[in-house]
Amino acid sequence: MRRIAINTGGGDAPGLNAVIRATVLAATNRGWEVVGIENGYAGLLPDAEGGLVPLTPERVRGITHLGGTILGSTNRRNPLEWERRQADGSIERRDRSEEVLEAFRRHGLDALIAIGGDGSLHIAADLAEKGLPVVGIPKTIDNDLAATTLTFGFLTAVETATHAIDRLHSTAESHQRVFVVEVMGASTGWIALFSGLAGTADVILIPEIPYDTEVVCDKVAERERSGRHFSIICVAEGSTPVGGKVTMKTVPAGRERLPRIGGIGSLVADEIAERTGKETRSLVLGHLQRGGPPNAYDRLIALRFGAAAVRCAAEGNFGCMVGLDPPHVRAVPLADALSEVKSVPLDSDIILTARAIGTSFGD
Ligand code: F6P
Repeated sequence: MRRIAINTGGGDAPGLNAVIRATVLAATNRGWEVVGIENGYAGLLPDAEGGLVPLTPERVRGITHLGGTILGSTNRRNPLEWERRQADGSIERRDRSEEVLEAFRRHGLDALIAIGGDGSLHIAADLAEKGLPVVGIPKTIDNDLAATTLTFGFLTAVETATHAIDRLHSTAESHQRVFVVEVMGASTGWIALFSGLAGTADVILIPEIPYDTEVVCDKVAERERSGRHFSIICVAEGSTPVGGKVTMKTVPAGRERLPRIGGIGSLVADEIAERTGKETRSLVLGHLQRGGPPNAYDRLIALRFGAAAVRCAAEGNFGCMVGLDPPHVRAVPLADALSEVKSVPLDSDIILTARAIGTSFGD
């Protein structure tokens, strides 16, 4: 092993820079050279945005606590389905994986440390099947990757959402209002569950438990009767009413952008206002949850993942992902990590705790 590459793909998450620093330091301490591929895989393709940047210990100095990624990231540049807009406005998709493999050989790269969530690690797994020596590192604020107890970025997002809910309490109480806070999480409810419980939301709505609006309104009414004239509802963006569908954000025509989950918060707020007559407001925390410095725990997981990925490369263990299995960090086959979306188990202690203290899930 002489020269390895790192890239960061998908939505950014707090802790990316900490992983980059740990990887670079652990690799250079073994005498390896490290380069960063900018903007996912784009930096390997001559006509795309970015290139390769040398990552020396000096370059990664002082970045552990910084949000974002010094390499740039994208959730729209899949080399296996590279999109190009045609003259007539239609989108052409083509597989450019051979070009990626060829660029890898041309630059004398011996391994790739791919830091990403579900989408980016699927790309990494496909490239691994085509012969690229890859080690994956699980990143996402959503915490929805299997084969790891936690993904880095998640706990910082939970902290951001919890602080937001804390701040809403005073306004909700002063104005005797209902507040609906929509948090991210894609098709899972990890962020909503953790931040809703920590922030003492009265109702937590998650995709794993379809809700009944009537039950949500009953909870608001019950609080009203007991003299609590405000309520906080924490809703995961992927939540659905019983028998309903996931709400998708509308994408302006002609924009090269994936349709995104989101918008459920205002629907829930409108229904509560209509049915209870209470003044109700909604807010979407959105990308605030992805930004800012990683908390101490995310820094630690990120640093451990970076060092563990370098150990895997040194052992020639490729096609794997490092995952947290407390107190260990272990390598698991990428296929295992991608075999399913890690949803919140309905019998998890955290759900039992919330139910035991009277939190409603709208069911
Ligand atoms: O997967 C991370 C995530 O932040 C999800 O929670 C969210 O649904 C999505 O990405 C938002 O993506 P974008 O940055 O493209 O709006």
